[in-house]
Amino acid sequence: MSFRTIADDGPLRLAVVGAGQMGRAWLQAIQRSALAEVRCVVDADEAAARAAAPDGVVTGTSLTEVARGCAVDAVVDVTAPVAHLPVTLEALELGLPVLGEKPLAATLPEAVKLVRAAEDAGELFMVSQNRRFHPGLWRLKRMAAGLGRVGILTHEFFKAPHFGGFREEMDHPLVLDMAIHNFDAARFVLDADPIAVYCEEFNPSWSWYAGDAATTAVFEMTGGIRFIYTGSWCSPGLETSWNSNWRVSAEHGTATWDGGGEPETEVLREGAEPAGTAAYPGDDLQGSLAEFVNALRTGDTPMGECHDNLRSLAMVHAAIASAESRTRVRVEEVLRDAGA
Ligand SMILES: NC(=O)c1ccc[n+]([C@@H]2O[C@H](COP(=O)([O-])OP(=O)(O)OC[C@H]3O[C@@H](n4cnc5c(N)ncnc54)[C@H](O)[C@@H]3O)[C@@H](O)[C@H]2O)c1
Repeated sequence: MSFRTIADDGPLRLAVVGAGQMGRAWLQAIQRSALAEVRCVVDADEAAARAAAPDGVVTGTSLTEVARGCAVDAVVDVTAPVAHLPVTLEALELGLPVLGEKPLAATLPEAVKLVRAAEDAGELFMVSQNRRFHPGLWRLKRMAAGLGRVGILTHEFFKAPHFGGFREEMDHPLVLDMAIHNFDAARFVLDADPIAVYCEEFNPSWSWYAGDAATTAVFEMTGGIRFIYTGSWCSPGLETSWNSNWRVSAEHGTATWDGGGEPETEVLREGAEPAGTAAYPGDDLQGSLAEFVNALRTGDTPMGECHDNLRSLAMVHAAIASAESRTRVRVEEVLRDAGA
């Protein structure tokens, strides 16, 4: 989709909406970057906005009012998921592009509504999936691309965090809050899209989560690849890294990654080379911010552009639909039911 670009005349001027835990991480990331600057901080809780804002930065509770008073080029939406719909709509109505935290929206119908709103406004709406920007994941992708046709990608995520708060109360805490990162990263590594999924969610008897904290899902991806995801948020001992364990099994060999160090590969064909030349934008939030700014300067479609990210979110909701119905669910049908 084409969107309005913004001429490069200095750092991109940003309004940050949402001054909670992740909002503060974004504020620090922007302050460390030469590509952008914080012009104002908005939060429904004014005290939270004031506490998080860098010295001299305007704060308030209404994006429309605050943005009127200080010239801004774009909005970073780091509010809680339920607020992604109203905040992103408000920004687009102000004629401002949006870099939003994952998930795109709290529900799939809301996500479809936001994708349409971005189209109608002609503004860029990109979702930040910061785990896509890990340098090890980029090296794994390059290795996988040199292995010929991929058969199976296995992905294992085993952690045991005691977060307290909303994650321990929500339905589908693992799939909704965490697996969106993993599903999105799998699409990135494979350069493939989801066709259908069979998923089982359950809650181990010792779980300290109200909703199901363990999941196994088998996705059929384009090219006939099977992406097999197993994860648990109540698995103490020998935990995986936050980026999981990966194994790409392909025609001419295998690549593995422990989610932290260097990926490894064994290639069983002479002359096979890692492939892919895309320039690496940087790690974590810095990479996400660089991708967003570059898109606004050049018109190039960034990773996480909302049409693309909708397919990662659809994997989450298709997996939940499969677990609830105990049937194989086609991702296209889930998207169609959501109005896409
Ligand atoms: N990428 C990651 O690794 C990562 C990690 C943590 C959280 N997140 C995401 O970041 C977002 C924020 O999470 P968090 O942990 O900072 O939550 P949080 O609860 O700490 O903060 C959310 C903030 O949003 C504010 N808010 C809610 N509704 C609002 C509205 N309508 N207008 C303005 N402000 C509003 C709240 O007052 C609160 O200060 C979520 O989408 C979450 O999924 C991403």
